[in-house]
Amino acid sequence: MKSFSVASLVGLLALSATSSACLLPEERENDGHIRAIRGRQSRNNGTPIGTGDRFSGGGVAPQGLGSQGSNTSFSTILNVNEIASGLKGLASIYGIETFTTPYKTYQGASIQGAVVGGSGGQCKEAYRVFLNGNIHARERGSADNVLFFISDLLYANKTNAGLTYGSKTYTAAQVQTALSAGIVFIPLSNPDGVAYDQSSNSCWRKNRNPASGTGSTSGIDLNRNFDFLWDFNPEVRLERATYHGTSAFSEPETRGLKWVLDTYAKIRWYVDLHSYAGDVLYSWGSDENQSRYPSMTFQNSSFDSVRGILSDTPGTRGGYGEYIPAAELTAQTTAATRMVSGLNAGGGSRYYTAMQSSDLYPTSGASDDYAYSRHFADPSLNLVHSYTIEFSQGNNAASCPFYPTVAQYNANIRAVGAGFMELLLAAVELGLGDETTC
Ligand SMILES: *[C@@H]1O[C@H](CO)[C@@H](O)[C@H](O)[C@H]1NC(C)=O
Ligand SMILES: *[C@@H]1O[C@H](CO)[C@@H](O)[C@H](O)[C@H]1NC(C)=O
Ligand SMILES: *[C@@H]1O[C@H](CO)[C@@H](O)[C@H](O)[C@H]1NC(C)=O
Ligand SMILES: *[C@@H]1O[C@H](CO)[C@@H](O)[C@H](O)[C@H]1NC(C)=O
Ligand SMILES: [Zn+2]
Repeated sequence: MKSFSVASLVGLLALSATSSACLLPEERENDGHIRAIRGRQSRNNGTPIGTGDRFSGGGVAPQGLGSQGSNTSFSTILNVNEIASGLKGLASIYGIETFTTPYKTYQGASIQGAVVGGSGGQCKEAYRVFLNGNIHARERGSADNVLFFISDLLYANKTNAGLTYGSKTYTAAQVQTALSAGIVFIPLSNPDGVAYDQSSNSCWRKNRNPASGTGSTSGIDLNRNFDFLWDFNPEVRLERATYHGTSAFSEPETRGLKWVLDTYAKIRWYVDLHSYAGDVLYSWGSDENQSRYPSMTFQNSSFDSVRGILSDTPGTRGGYGEYIPAAELTAQTTAATRMVSGLNAGGGSRYYTAMQSSDLYPTSGASDDYAYSRHFADPSLNLVHSYTIEFSQGNNAASCPFYPTVAQYNANIRAVGAGFMELLLAAVELGLGDETTC
């Protein structure tokens, strides 16, 4: 789609941010060679993966930590089968409606989600907030955070109780307000990758499609495969860790997320849940934002050679910034700040900050930018305020820093629970969009 230029490559490589979001430091060292993840010495894999099925094939519903005492904690991570049986448990105990996206993964897995709250029932326009988990395989606890948060909402609603995450307390009325937003959620959007990571402890990030190579070079980075400046990503030319696939939406997992945005067409707020930088990131990820030059956008290929350079000044000497209407930026930052307040109080450590995605490092093809870009590319589509939450601080004692300690795993569940609560409450206050027509 977009051409690639040496100028943008130089600009992007000059930016070697030190914080580690979804990439390991060695994956960020672009030296022009295909590079496997280095084997780490540690045999410590953090919180163990659960064995068996604590939800008995869907006969038992999960319950999160916000609806239990502050001394309650979990000692194992949900295995892939438990994520599916937990979702089934929520459907059987609370009657929520589940769905399966239409595209099977390379290994034949289905991607499942559900809808809760809103005005309930069959009206797909009633769901305005979309929470997505574990698109990156090794970010352990991502699916758990999504599933346990929804479980908390449903349990609290049913018992007419509130929720407590760390020092954040929510009333029963706030739980009902949060549910009124109408939520679409997918705990596990990369089932092949997570199954492989859980069985191999290999710090696996991508899916399992071998189109790009074999062994450690196989797999597509799903969060580079969306149709947002898809072919404008210097990383993918050099580094198999972020290989973006053979075309935008080449992967069934990403087509499934597009299907969700098309099907629940009134979604107004979207969070993609990642680890581990301790940030709430808001669009854009392609370049610094600017509200002065509406023609300076991802849609205008005349800027391809200068996009992705953050050290320039938009509007002067060829400097580029990605256009964001001022009112949309205000909503983006307001809700991001709210999420940060929840994450910091819920998890008990104040290390989360809000920032623009490109401040971490410029990206293309990411799900949050794609979701937000849709209404620019096609004005008939809904505006979707879009975020990446990067939970956790990383576990440097483990074989893979994305594998949390037991303490981190539990703190992350609480932090993300409060972050999601703040998003839902902020979304209701800031606006959910048009009335439904059904
Ligand atoms: C939680 O654990 C602490 C320390 O073990 C203990 O002092 C406290 O009483 C416990 N609180 C509850 C509510 O069980
Ligand atoms: C919340 O509780 C009310 C009252 O029990 C119930 O009617 C409603 O369906 C519940 N909402 C959800 C999303 O479960
Ligand atoms: C984004 O754009 C606005 C308006 O041009 C500007 O005020 C703001 O500082 C920019 N940066 C971030 C990180 O939001
Ligand atoms: C794209 O940018 C160029 C250079 O600034 C400008 O002349 C042109 O009008 C823009 N095109 C659109 C469609 O906005
Ligand atoms: Zn990630």
